[in-house]
Amino acid sequence: MKLGRLNHIGVATPSIEASIAFWRDVMGATHIHAPFDLPEQGVKVCFVDTPADGPHNGTQIELIEPLPGNTSIASFLDKNPQGGQHHMCFEVPDIHAAKAEFEAMGKRVLGEPRIGAHGTLIFFVHPKDMGGVLTEIMETPKTAH
Ligand code: CO
Repeated sequence: MKLGRLNHIGVATPSIEASIAFWRDVMGATHIHAPFDLPEQGVKVCFVDTPADGPHNGTQIELIEPLPGNTSIASFLDKNPQGGQHHMCFEVPDIHAAKAEFEAMGKRVLGEPRIGAHGTLIFFVHPKDMGGVLTEIMETPKTAH
């Protein structure tokens, strides 16, 4: 496994609108993208940019609100009613190679690679195999750097 850039940290929230106000008014975020639905994953998401690091985009915060019928984020919010940190997402150059490497190490990859919120292929690795952290692996966007 070749560790890449920390692309984003996923934060579950019962209200994206309330979370946007928090990141703007408390944390001073100045680049907050428009929220959008990702129906394949049963979520509404909103990206908040942190400042760019040299030539690289800054790590983002991914606000995640469940759409009706979503079970995994909804059950996370049952346990954490205010919301909270949900996953970390690291970039890799080749999603299929990364999946094979995790599986060769006995890590449970959750499903097949699918299109994520940035339009590139992603998969998740089970938190119980990752020191308790739900880990998203995404293929680096070709044009973002
Ligand atoms: Co994510």
